[in-house]
Amino acid sequence: MKPSQDTQSQLQDSIRQRFGLTLAEVAGLPHTDELVRLLQHRSHRAYTDRRVDDALLQLLYACALSAPTKSDLQQADIVRVADPSKRQVIADLIDDMPWVRAAPVFLVFCGNNRRIRQVSTLRGKSFANDHLDAFFNATVDAAIVLSTFIHAASAVGLGCCPISAIRDHADVVSQLLELPQWVFPIAGLCVGYPAEPGHISPRLPLNVTVHTDRFDEGELERSIDDYDHRRHGQRPYTRQRDIERFGAAEFYGWSEDKARQYAHPQRDRFGRYVRAQGFNLD
Ligand SMILES: Cc1cc2nc3c(=O)[nH]c(=O)nc-3n(C[C@H](O)[C@H](O)[C@H](O)COP(=O)(O)O)c2cc1C
Repeated sequence: MKPSQDTQSQLQDSIRQRFGLTLAEVAGLPHTDELVRLLQHRSHRAYTDRRVDDALLQLLYACALSAPTKSDLQQADIVRVADPSKRQVIADLIDDMPWVRAAPVFLVFCGNNRRIRQVSTLRGKSFANDHLDAFFNATVDAAIVLSTFIHAASAVGLGCCPISAIRDHADVVSQLLELPQWVFPIAGLCVGYPAEPGHISPRLPLNVTVHTDRFDEGELERSIDDYDHRRHGQRPYTRQRDIERFGAAEFYGWSEDKARQYAHPQRDRFGRYVRAQGFNLD
């Protein structure tokens, strides 16, 4: 089936906005609406008051948990924070992100390496994988489930914003949600009906992030400069970080913003928390 010209131009427009590129047209593509939706992804941080139906949430959990899972181990869980007092504790911890308080639904996506250990005990086998990969596999599974949830939600008109800031307070969130050993939060997720259309956030060009046969960063500096300027043309930053420390930059692009952001330690106690949850990270 040939996609309609409308869909083709939506695909091309989205790719241009996102990557500043025009890709060759691919003939004979079915289901391009889904590709357009992926290309037009945006995080939503403002929501209407419309309630998200419980039955719809169940459907979205089912879609999300249909994602691929390493060795079929199924090491991802979702915790809905429905109790207003628990929600308030989390919102108070992350006061600089008011969308955490305002979102109609707040979920916490967790890696769960506990169940496989319980299964090993239940079946009378030793668990011989107490090393970094145990943590890593559960993290990857949970991240894929999070991403699948976001895409499923967007297919039914919902908007989402992942919240890794909960990991700044992983121990408090863990206690609040009674996460046992070997279960840990990877991110929260705000969910609701978007109050605004949002915008496409430009990404680095594909020549920076896609490689063939060998890792190649030959054009990195020039590509980042080009990206900074393209992004500035589409969505300039409205404020600069840390002017007291770094001064006001004449040109303030993505790379300046990210370098300033990571000039501060972030979440440097997370490793300690993960170890306290029982993981051996060697
Ligand atoms: C794992 C993860 C954690 C994130 N954590 C936060 C967060 O704590 N607060 C927030 O406002 N946005 C958060 N975001 C959203 C990112 O800021 C957003 O994806 C990025 O700026 C690109 O914008 P886009 O999603 O609209 O394309 C997170 C996204 C991911 C994937």
